[in-house]
Amino acid sequence: MPALVLLGAQWGDEGKGKATDLLGGSVDYVVRYQGGNNAGHTVVVGDQKYALHLLPSGILSPGCTPVIGNGVVVDPSVLLSELSGLNERGVDTSKLLISGNAHIITPYNVTVDKVTERFLGKRKIGTTGRGIGPTYADKINRVGIRVQDLYDESILTQKVEAALDVKNQILTKLYNRRAITATQVVEELLGYAEQIEPYVADTVLILNQALDDDKVVLFEGGQGTLLDIDHGTYPFVTSSNPTAGGACTGAGVGPTKISRVIGILKAYTTRVGAGPFPTELFDEDGEALRRIGGERGVTTGRDRRCGWFDAVIARYATRVNGLTDFFLTKLDVLSGWEQIPVCVAYDIDGERVEELPYSQTDFHHAKPVYEYLPGWQEDISEAKTFADLPKNAQAYVKALEDMSGAPISAIGVGPGREETIEINSFL
Ligand code: GDP
Ligand code: IMO
Ligand code: MG
Repeated sequence: MPALVLLGAQWGDEGKGKATDLLGGSVDYVVRYQGGNNAGHTVVVGDQKYALHLLPSGILSPGCTPVIGNGVVVDPSVLLSELSGLNERGVDTSKLLISGNAHIITPYNVTVDKVTERFLGKRKIGTTGRGIGPTYADKINRVGIRVQDLYDESILTQKVEAALDVKNQILTKLYNRRAITATQVVEELLGYAEQIEPYVADTVLILNQALDDDKVVLFEGGQGTLLDIDHGTYPFVTSSNPTAGGACTGAGVGPTKISRVIGILKAYTTRVGAGPFPTELFDEDGEALRRIGGERGVTTGRDRRCGWFDAVIARYATRVNGLTDFFLTKLDVLSGWEQIPVCVAYDIDGERVEELPYSQTDFHHAKPVYEYLPGWQEDISEAKTFADLPKNAQAYVKALEDMSGAPISAIGVGPGREETIEINSFL
């Protein structure tokens, strides 16, 4: 049985945690392939609510092996506190596997993230402040620290010293901060080593062997397509590749193994942090989406910016990810509007544009061109089949499907596992 990728089709927070958890019971492995604890994935199981940041959402499914792939950046203190938090709630986390090649978010990476944002002032990205960008920068600059380095003190010390040589110059001379001493960092990192060691494994080998043995592997993206460092709204993006190709590099699995790519798509749009957002609302409709949808960041507690559904973005996500399916979430949030605007194209300086412009300048000028679909008033959270939905809700889903370029195979009508309408099976 092949590999599936599940990723965000918009700017993150589409409901990936819920969708992953839903499939978790039927898959053998759930793998995070990029990002780190900038993610905040909510999973609701019965009356229990979990907020996962670094750990794959599959950790809540007993039969499933959760994997942190080589493409992920790991903050060891967050990892250990997330594990102990789950253990205290009775979740068995002993099957977790962590790639020895995953990079470590060091304390100085977190510092650099925060001071850089402060220094950018008005032009800041609005990062989560978790050290994500600086850690990936170190990886690309070849001065990163990897999980496996925790098990060779001499190498670890040399690497931390090399990384701090340059960083301390920047911190002290540019940002007017105190220098960070290598010994302190090494000591802190070594303090985590023993607790993490049982999980460290050659995840590339294990995952490829699992696929050879016909096991089902699900790759769970963090963030979303428009936050991708290559394909998102650069520079207002994260520093990794949430798009489908990222699953291959971030887990060491060839593209020929991936048979299904599921885009998680919110029935409207949200964004956290800075950057362009054509359908953003600044009126009472935006306020209502935020309130009814509970649109508040799981990681930073920031209010999410809210707007109507943007079909241009959904089409773009279909294209750059090769999506085979959509999982449409939060349709229930849209109950109660007379009519629901859907952005079908952009007006860019007087010209109608159907596809996402590659130019940042054009995208900043994009004004939504709306079509107005009739709304519905009924509470749909009890709907179990597509036929249970009011006619106008069915028409809304069909319209989104036609505009977005891939079949909508599941619909979320509430945060719980069972509050899902399955149309086509994913497995
Ligand atoms: P993720 O980062 O993509 O996993 O998404 P988040 O967890 O950050 O945000 C999604 C929020 O929507 C969470 O609070 C989920 O519990 C909730 N959610 C997911 N699917 C649905 C749905 O279909 N309906 C409703 N009402 N809430 C949902
Ligand atoms: P999940 O997995 C929404 C945003 C930040 C900021 C930008 C860069 O829950 O969907 P970073 O700290 O990554 O350098 O911040 O990316 N961002 C997210 N927005 N959901 C997320 O994760 C996000 N992870 C990062 O708000 O705009
Ligand atoms: Mg989230």
